[in-house]
Amino acid sequence: MRNHRDFLAVTDFSRDEIVETIALAGELKERRSRREVASPLAGQVWGLIFHKASLRTRISFEVGIAELGGHALYITEKEIELGKRETIADAAQVLSRYLGGIMIRTFSHKDVEELAKYADIPVINGLTDYSHPCQIMADIQTVYEKLGRFDDFKLTYVGDGNNITNSLLELAQRLNFDFVIGTAEDTLPDMKLVEAANKAGSSRVSIEHDPIKAVQGSHVIYTDVWASMGQKDQADDKARKLRPFQVNENLLAKADKSCIVLHCLPAERGKEITNGVMDGPHSVVFDQAENRLHAQKAVMTVLMETR
Ligand code: CP
Ligand code: NVA
Repeated sequence: MRNHRDFLAVTDFSRDEIVETIALAGELKERRSRREVASPLAGQVWGLIFHKASLRTRISFEVGIAELGGHALYITEKEIELGKRETIADAAQVLSRYLGGIMIRTFSHKDVEELAKYADIPVINGLTDYSHPCQIMADIQTVYEKLGRFDDFKLTYVGDGNNITNSLLELAQRLNFDFVIGTAEDTLPDMKLVEAANKAGSSRVSIEHDPIKAVQGSHVIYTDVWASMGQKDQADDKARKLRPFQVNENLLAKADKSCIVLHCLPAERGKEITNGVMDGPHSVVFDQAENRLHAQKAVMTVLMETR
């Protein structure tokens, strides 16, 4: 019998749990500003496994775990050679004897599922080639803070159909919003997730190849790099295909006049987003980055409380 929960996908949480987690994230943010502490991870050491670069995920998890009373270990490929020195299943069982939980950022989503299958402790997906659910929890916290609602808005993701797009599609299975993906014909996200989101019946998801039509009347514009980590060899090809999908002042003028602009960061300024938009009045990208800390503290707390 499993006595723990993982967070590998946004859909690992029900709609109510997403809403409750974001409410808790807001409370934790408030309490932090008053320097109040809670210690649900007291006495625990969490492992943070990174096979890709990171600023936000690494620092926000290390800080977040410390602020929840726990301790974090930063583990790279060099130390454990996950899946090479021994099977992922064996490593998972050993790590479970030492750690209170694991956050992993790696390439293969299957490897993360394998780790979670054999671990007896919570495993959190800190980004794979397929998805990035922690980011999307911070994003929906930001949308809620700025728009005051979880549903009934139009969100347009403009750019490469990638791990961020896939996790937004998972969110669309749980909340109720109009989700338009403005992208080229061969830079699509996982179309099975588009189908699943539309089947779930709450959100309406569509793909639009005309960027202007895509953003028309949107309340939330979201973009991300054109070539993700591990795909930098495709950068020129993607840039050629996605250039019309740059989030610039002209495109923004077609969206709702009080729209907010999200970017998970890091940004490649001058490519998928201009300096003018990134530093302009609609941009909330640094609030969004801050919310990684609060949203993840809430996710870890919920995993501890509902195991
Ligand atoms: N958004 C995000 O995950 O940033 P890092 O790659 O810096 O962790
Ligand atoms: N899609 C980007 C997100 C980075 C946070 C990547 O995978 O590189």
